[in-house]
Amino acid sequence: MNRLISSKLGAAIVTGASSGIGKVYAERLAARGHDVVLVARREDRLRRLAAELAERHGVLAEVLVCDLSKPEGVAMLVDRLEADAAISMLVNNAGFSALKPLTQTPDETIASMIALNVTALTLLSKVAIAAFTSRGRGALINIGSGAGFAPYPGIPVYGATKAYVYLFTQSLQSEVEGTPVRVQLVLPGAVVSEGWEVAGGTELEPLPPEIVMTTEDLVRAALRGLDLGERVTAPSVHDEALLRDYEAAGSRALQGAFDATPAARYAEP
Ligand SMILES: NC(=O)c1ccc[n+]([C@@H]2O[C@H](COP(=O)([O-])OP(=O)(O)OC[C@H]3O[C@@H](n4cnc5c(N)ncnc54)[C@H](OP(=O)(O)O)[C@@H]3O)[C@@H](O)[C@H]2O)c1
Repeated sequence: MNRLISSKLGAAIVTGASSGIGKVYAERLAARGHDVVLVARREDRLRRLAAELAERHGVLAEVLVCDLSKPEGVAMLVDRLEADAAISMLVNNAGFSALKPLTQTPDETIASMIALNVTALTLLSKVAIAAFTSRGRGALINIGSGAGFAPYPGIPVYGATKAYVYLFTQSLQSEVEGTPVRVQLVLPGAVVSEGWEVAGGTELEPLPPEIVMTTEDLVRAALRGLDLGERVTAPSVHDEALLRDYEAAGSRALQGAFDATPAARYAEP
C-alpha cells in the first residue's frame, strides 16, 4: 500500500535508522502515521526497512544515505530539512561509543565520535529549530545517554559527548519556550543494540540482564514521554526525584560559580 500525498502529521527524519534505537523509532513513528526519512550509511538495511514500513503502514518512507561524521553528509541533511516543508520531526539518534581509555582510543575514532555525536547533532538541531519555528510546528528529539550524567571509566569521550547533548538540548528548550516547537531530551540507560559491538567488539563482558532495556521498551517509553510533554525523558530512571535533584544541584553550582572574590580556602597562608 503506497500513499500519494504526505501524512498530515508530517514527515519524521530519523538518523541512525538502520539499527537499534533508531530503527525502532522509525517503526513506531511510521505506525503512528508519520512519513519517514531514514538516514544512515548502510543503504541495504535502510531500503529494506523503508519498503517494509511503506507496505505495513501505508506511509511514504524515503532513504537518505549519508555519513553524518562528514561535513558533506551533514550538509545533505541540512538541505533536506530546510527545503522540505513536510518535515515536522527530527530524531537526532545516530551516535556511537568506544569503550576504551583515552590513550588507547585512535585519533580517528575520537574525531569521528565528536563529529557525529556532537557536531552533526548540533548543526542539525540548529536547522531543525529554525525550520520548525518558521513552519509553526515541529519536534526535535535528541538522544543523549545516562552516561552523560557523570564520569564513568572507559568511556571518556563518549560520556563527554553525551554530557554535551544533555546541556545543549536543555539550553535549546529555553530558546523555544513559548513557541509551538518541542524539544525533548531522551536519556537511555543501557539498551540492547549493535551499538555495544561497535563500542567494544567481542572484548566486552555481557551486562547483567536486569539493567539492560530492550529497544522496543525504550522507544515506547520515550514516545510516551513526548506525548506527556516531557522535556527530559529517562525511561530507566524510576525515581524522578533523582532527575530533579540532579538539575537542581546543577543550577545551584552554576549560580555558585560566579563571584568576584576567591573562596576562603584559596587565601594564601
Ligand atoms: N545502546 C545503548 O545502551 C545506548 C544507551 C544510551 C544511549 N544510546 C544512544 O542511542 C543512539 C543509538 O544507538 P544504538 O544503541 O541504537 O546503536 P546502533 O544499533 O549501533 O545504532 C547506531 C545507528 O547510528 C548510525 N550511524 C553510526 N555512525 C553513523 C554515521 N557516521 N553517519 C550516519 N549514521 C551513523 C548507524 O547506522 P550505519 O552504521 O548504517 O551508518 C546506526 O543506524 C546513539 O546516539 C547512542 O549513543 C545508546
